[in-house]
Amino acid sequence: MKSFFALVLLVVVLHDSKCAKILGVFPIPVRSHYSLGNALMKGLAEHGHDVTIVTPYIDKNPPKKGSYRQIELTGFAEAHEKHRKNMKMFDMEDMNSFVSLPVFLSIATAGAELTLNHTNVQNLLHSGEKFDAVILPQFMNDAHKGFAAHFDAPLILLSPLGANTWVNMLVANPSPTSYVPDALLSLSSQMTFCDRLTNTVFQVYSHLLNHLLAFPKQEKLYNQYFPNNPPFYDVLYNTSIVLVNSHPSLSQPVPYVPNMIDIGGFHIKPAKTLPDDLQKFLDDSKEGVIYFSMGSNLRSAELPPEKRDVFLSTFAKMKMKILWKWEEDVLPGQPKNVKLGKWLPQQEILAHPNVKLFITHGGLLSTTETIYHGVPVLAIPIAGDQKLNAHRIVNEGFGLSLGYKEISEQTLTQKLDELLNNSKYAKNAKKRSEIFHDRLVGPMETAVYWVEYVIRHRGAPHLKVAGVDLPWYKYMLVDVVGVIFIALVFNSYLFYKITKKICSWFSKPKVQKVKRS
Ligand SMILES: *[C@@H]1O[C@H](CO)[C@@H](O)[C@H](O)[C@H]1NC(C)=O
Ligand SMILES: *[C@@H]1O[C@H](CO)[C@@H](O)[C@H](O)[C@H]1NC(C)=O
Ligand SMILES: *[C@@H]1O[C@H](CO)[C@@H](O)[C@H](O)[C@H]1NC(C)=O
Repeated sequence: MKSFFALVLLVVVLHDSKCAKILGVFPIPVRSHYSLGNALMKGLAEHGHDVTIVTPYIDKNPPKKGSYRQIELTGFAEAHEKHRKNMKMFDMEDMNSFVSLPVFLSIATAGAELTLNHTNVQNLLHSGEKFDAVILPQFMNDAHKGFAAHFDAPLILLSPLGANTWVNMLVANPSPTSYVPDALLSLSSQMTFCDRLTNTVFQVYSHLLNHLLAFPKQEKLYNQYFPNNPPFYDVLYNTSIVLVNSHPSLSQPVPYVPNMIDIGGFHIKPAKTLPDDLQKFLDDSKEGVIYFSMGSNLRSAELPPEKRDVFLSTFAKMKMKILWKWEEDVLPGQPKNVKLGKWLPQQEILAHPNVKLFITHGGLLSTTETIYHGVPVLAIPIAGDQKLNAHRIVNEGFGLSLGYKEISEQTLTQKLDELLNNSKYAKNAKKRSEIFHDRLVGPMETAVYWVEYVIRHRGAPHLKVAGVDLPWYKYMLVDVVGVIFIALVFNSYLFYKITKKICSWFSKPKVQKVKRS
């Protein structure tokens, strides 16, 4: 029955949509960000739209259907790679979120400027082309919202990190700090008093940082590169919909205003066939396989030698096979049961029934993919939202988390034993996977439907909550609370005065009596 409805909805969607011209600007040269943007834009092209993507990487397998134009931000990928090499990524584990936020902000602002000033982007801006919708990631690149106003097209945001402060602010989404932890803090949804205090203070801090530091910088950029556009703040709060890379199977359920749409998992395609050698390796490993990858941005080849040796000696003791994403040609001291791959088809590996465990940094994409396939995890979170994801993994009971600093042969062995011996982790992973797949329509179809919806309804202003137009003190009811407070103080004062008066009336005769006698 459900698939019948899905089919009907899909047919309606396909039937109703004309070919639209859609622009996506996804300049962040981080692979996971790029994968999300590219997957969304490819999905739109595959549904017959005329798609243009501004991107740091060129996809060598563009979709066969529709039209897919890639405008390369030449030099971005190289610059990022150089920067990444100079930075010890594993050292970011230490970084405090209060410190990392302004650092992120300044990097992001510089990136936003480089994009706008890029020759290929300038050519696009001056091409006189028209678009029916503009899609941007929401990642401290607010000046880019000028693209939407410039092309007179509705603005659609893709939020890579679920619902977070940056997005909530723009569409007036309520996000109580009592139970919604900030994406950059390593807190779970069950917060102690101190957690709630930290969460609230951090929220205020990040609002202040945005309003006092980030937005003015973005406004300057915006005015410089879009001199003929409407004022920055009018465009900033003019988001039609936010496509949120999240789903209740992936993260804690939180409130959404009507123009926030869950599309978590949209980037995942059904598993393809594996390369022959991997297929054989996985098929033959009846004792089970552990898949180990720290993602594309962190590289396990950059693990300090002492940490690397912990993994080597722990793996060497095990009967199971290990498939390790290792980015160099040789791994010194490679045990017999370890197979290496510089690049590994993660989704196809996770789909294999012999894969029993995934050791991951806990990035959102890896977490999503492991839930899709129902594989339990050992998370070793380093930076960004990874600690938050690790908390969720532990809370939902489909994995364990091991702090980077705590990695030793003893702790690693202990965690692996627990994960592999206790069947509850695999069961919970399967349960999460069932929740993930139980939807009316798939996440990519949902995303395409809503993009087309926004185009059909010219920005769909009827979905916006009125809170977007309120200044913060009205939104937070500071004025109302203030008046109530003043009234209370005034009444208390009045009450005090009247009581005093009445008391003095009653006491007066007594005093007089005393005086007389
Ligand atoms: C913008 O680009 C021009 C030429 O492409 C270059 O001369 C200029 O320095 C750039 N400005 C910034 C701020 O990067
Ligand atoms: C806000 O978006 C709508 C829908 O795309 C558009 O009609 C309107 O002009 C935009 N307003 C500003 C100030 O950009
Ligand atoms: C499971 O538990 C047994 C005994 O409790 C232990 O010997 C073994 O190493 C554990 N690990 C695995 C992966 O079976």
